[in-house]
Amino acid sequence: MKKKLIAGNWKMNGSLAANQALVRAVVDGLHGAACQAAVCVPAPYLAQVQALRQGSALELGAQDVSRHEQGAYTGEVSAPMLKEFGVRYAIVGHSERRQYHGETDETVAEKAKAALAHGITPIVCVGETLAEREGGYTEEVVKRQLAAVVHANGPCISEVVVAYEPVWAIGTGRTATPEQAQQVHAVLRAQLRAATTHADRVAILYGGSMNAANAASLLAQPDIDGGLIGGASLKSADFLQIIAAAG
Ligand code: 13P
Repeated sequence: MKKKLIAGNWKMNGSLAANQALVRAVVDGLHGAACQAAVCVPAPYLAQVQALRQGSALELGAQDVSRHEQGAYTGEVSAPMLKEFGVRYAIVGHSERRQYHGETDETVAEKAKAALAHGITPIVCVGETLAEREGGYTEEVVKRQLAAVVHANGPCISEVVVAYEPVWAIGTGRTATPEQAQQVHAVLRAQLRAATTHADRVAILYGGSMNAANAASLLAQPDIDGGLIGGASLKSADFLQIIAAAG
């Protein structure tokens, strides 16, 4: 059985002092963990967290990556730059970037491609808004979002991680039920199967108010291969409890 992956998305949180305490506690608590664990940190802290995680199994991730290699793209950070800091994962297409930065399905697909080209595993986020769910469009939306990434990446799609993050569950304390999440994960798995013979290798994470109390029941679903954790990844005890639940 493949190992589950628990990835923290710190979003725009942290400070040198807070990161040091958090990463030290996570690294200390990680010994013997049966799953893979990562933290996706703001770009200015990559070097700090790279040093703090040295020698541990905790992997380092970024929260975004440019679709360009280099050049006149003020404010962007390229995959080769991330690679220099030991970055293993890069979140792409988080709903907050789709919503506040106008990222389209095509942009997200190109970002995934740029990451893969440099040996970074993209964590491709998909998910419907509340209005889309209530309108009965959940499957249509997530399939459209994933299709763009499949189209741009061909057989390399087996190298990505997918994260199903219903927008209405992010930061709201309102989690998808294990059954609701599993239903969408199964749809995504079927879509991956149509694109690659290695679909079972692809980790499909759930994200959206996952916490120490609800992690075990979500992670028990057959197509939920891990979690992308926002708020609860900022507290070492909570994050470690989720990691333990994934064991
Ligand atoms: P919360 O866990 O805070 O709901 O955030 C989920 C998320 O957006 C992870 O990327």
